[in-house]
Amino acid sequence: MNDSNFLKEHNAKSLWHPMAHPADSLANPPTIITGASGVRIRDIDGHEVIDAVGGLWNVNLGFSCQPVKDAIAAQLDVLPYYSTFRGTSNDQVIQLAEELRTFFAPDGLSRAFFTSGGSDSVETALRLARQYHKIRGEAARTKFLSLKKGYHGTHMGGASVNGNANFRTQYEPLLPGCHHIPAPYTYRNPFNESDPERLAQLCLQALEDEITFQGAGTIAAFIMEPILGAGGVIPPHASFMPGVREICDKYGILLIADEVITAFGRTGSWSGSRHWGVQPDFMCTAKAITNGYFPFGAVMIADQVAEVFEQDETGRAAIGHGYTYSGHPVGAAAALSCLQETQRLNVPQNAAARGQELHQGLQALQQKYALIGDVRGGHGLMCAMELVADRDTKSAADKKTLATLQEVTYQNGTMVRVSGPNIILSPPLILSAQDVTDILAALDIGFAAVS
Ligand SMILES: Cc1ncc(COP(=O)(O)O)c(C=O)c1O
Repeated sequence: MNDSNFLKEHNAKSLWHPMAHPADSLANPPTIITGASGVRIRDIDGHEVIDAVGGLWNVNLGFSCQPVKDAIAAQLDVLPYYSTFRGTSNDQVIQLAEELRTFFAPDGLSRAFFTSGGSDSVETALRLARQYHKIRGEAARTKFLSLKKGYHGTHMGGASVNGNANFRTQYEPLLPGCHHIPAPYTYRNPFNESDPERLAQLCLQALEDEITFQGAGTIAAFIMEPILGAGGVIPPHASFMPGVREICDKYGILLIADEVITAFGRTGSWSGSRHWGVQPDFMCTAKAITNGYFPFGAVMIADQVAEVFEQDETGRAAIGHGYTYSGHPVGAAAALSCLQETQRLNVPQNAAARGQELHQGLQALQQKYALIGDVRGGHGLMCAMELVADRDTKSAADKKTLATLQEVTYQNGTMVRVSGPNIILSPPLILSAQDVTDILAALDIGFAAVS
């Protein structure tokens, strides 16, 4: 084990960090996390804080989830790897698919395709959506529609449906045939509409308008997060996702729910789609499926879509897609144990209760600090604050303010995430009421330092 001086000296020297400028990582070396337990993380200097980021929206059960750790360790001893490509399978993945089928039955999803993470799950759903139409003889349906502000990972397909220039511009040209409609984002939108229900209707009209413009027969799928997460936690009005489902049905377009962060309880419901009473055609999952302890994901597939593939006699339904780690036995063992523990703890209930407290606490901070332009949340443990230099013009707060706020908040006991002008909170779902109080107290000190 190297000493802490070595680690500090070499921090960011020989690795590039995702979602960071390499020069910035060198100038402002990242915090080195060396330990964690419960909902707390510990850095190299022994400073311990509540992780209000929840790893990266994935450590829903906290850092000490022994059953998942045990399942991983035990599986490594028995079968550390085998492929699920045509001709072989493993005991863990078969059991997991059955468990997921039961778990997602209320969402109308019955088959699973396994992946190694969220971006893989999105890529898989996009590809299978195109294939579905080809099998049915509608080969012209190749385009994808999505929401501005949406986040769908970083593969070429995912980046193409992403709704944020930061993840697109330097990688263009992206996939042709991907078109975006305005998000139901009340704080800023092209309609200048702040009423959530009216805005939802306007966005739905924009969706239908785009479909008519492109030609319904050219569109394979619409992909959306039930509550936009990385784009700044944007919960739509309750009428929005059901409205999307209706429009997709009307035009024969598949609905892909990107639930990489919302599946398994974060919204206060077992899935984001269920939260809005919608059954999607595909659901992308990853992250919390193994509590973040093993890179793993699953795309869940609706009955009616699965039947088109399974009943195909043309050969077009052969799946020419998959990953070396699809159905990894260690990942599957972790997921089996995680699913059981997630259900035993009934995490959506706690997520909903703590989420309300956190949201209300952030609204109270907004009364106190003019820097907080908008507070979003109210659906489980996913909240954001959008910081502005001026509430009237809504001009974004400068980067330095956000960096100082994050640092002071960290020094006072809570890790929060800065993403553009937003402070994003996505803590573990096992958070206690006292943890919520502590997070808010640390943020209060952070805001006081920059106000
Ligand atoms: C909604 C959504 N989709 C896809 C992804 C990509 O997942 P991964 O980073 O595991 O590839 C993320 C990651 O945050 C996400 O939030």
